Amino acid sequence: MASYKIPVIAGDGIGPEVIAEGKKVVEAAGEVYGYDVEWIDLPHGCDHYLKTGETISEDTLKELSNYRAIYLGAVGDERKVKTGILEQGILLKLRFYFDQYINLRPVKLLDGVETPIKNKTSKDIDFYVVRENTEDFYAGLGGRGVKGLSHQHLKLKRELYSVKFDLDILTDSDEIAYQIGVISREGARRIIDYSFQLARNRKKHLSSVDKANVMTDIYGLWREVFQETAKGYPDVKTDFNFVDAVTMWFVKNPEFFDVVVAPNMFGDIITDLGAMLQGGLGLAPGGNINPEGTSMFEPMGGSAPKYKGLNKVNPIAAIWAGALMMEHLGEGEAANAIVKAIETNLRERKVRTYDLGGTSKTSEVGSDIARIVRQQGRI
Ligand code: IPM
Ligand code: MN
Repeated sequence: MASYKIPVIAGDGIGPEVIAEGKKVVEAAGEVYGYDVEWIDLPHGCDHYLKTGETISEDTLKELSNYRAIYLGAVGDERKVKTGILEQGILLKLRFYFDQYINLRPVKLLDGVETPIKNKTSKDIDFYVVRENTEDFYAGLGGRGVKGLSHQHLKLKRELYSVKFDLDILTDSDEIAYQIGVISREGARRIIDYSFQLARNRKKHLSSVDKANVMTDIYGLWREVFQETAKGYPDVKTDFNFVDAVTMWFVKNPEFFDVVVAPNMFGDIITDLGAMLQGGLGLAPGGNINPEGTSMFEPMGGSAPKYKGLNKVNPIAAIWAGALMMEHLGEGEAANAIVKAIETNLRERKVRTYDLGGTSKTSEVGSDIARIVRQQGRI
């Protein structure tokens, strides 16, 4: 019997509640499909940080590199720890440390779920966003200052747009802050190549997202690499979309999309929109993938501290993330069965949480999906 050791960072807020349901369902699928899971629970998150001052240590990261997948709930609670510290210190640290350059986010409307988009059904909303996960404005290059920096900035504005400035009298109110977006040729190539491969195995249509009409340097390189990579995939249809326009098309014609590849920050933004198309954040999973290293699977939504401990929120995103994780570990059959069970639960419309108009508890939804997985049995 296959046996998996999976580190778990349930984290803060609703993280532990939804991860508990994900474990329940992954274990149920193990009974049917013949694998065993040993969860290795890690304490990282707000309380651990407040107690020890540690976000996540180098030693822990080294230890985690012995595993192929991590199961993550959510980290951060603004009421306890200033926003940014745990997001950067744990979530982004893990993504960068393990070079999880693929952030795979399915946007799929399941039967039995309402989309806010009028007249669209599960046939219309079924695509993937592949978000680059290690570069762009997440690279952490930035700074703040008054004298030298704003002087340079104003000089540039004067040259580029003929804006008039008196550069000799700069005061505190002239302080500027900047953050640099970085795209590397190899960083773009590997994510775009992955996306072409994914598209080749689906409907052979890859859409690229950028803002190359304004950020001509970084997204100019992105486009160049996209076009070069496309030469290796003549069977895949392609198009370029500016990010503002793509938000419009997501709403107007979601059926147009098959695979969408986006730089990190635009990918972050458009996948929250994608989550709404598929019925809400409670239904949107994601995988942070390094095909050769340690990957990490998580519900897309955050820790939602105000719902903590109420046993109220929808665990489906976390359960689905569990399915993506088992698929990544080679248990494709079990993964399909979990998604099928989620679909059955949704179609039956009996056991569902408040966000879907129901009155069931988080744990009841998890138990129901686990029951369906067992009942479906081996196909
Ligand atoms: C996400 C989140 C994170 C991100 C935050 C919490 C740092 O919004 O996973 O989409 O921006 O990537
Ligand atoms: Mn986000």
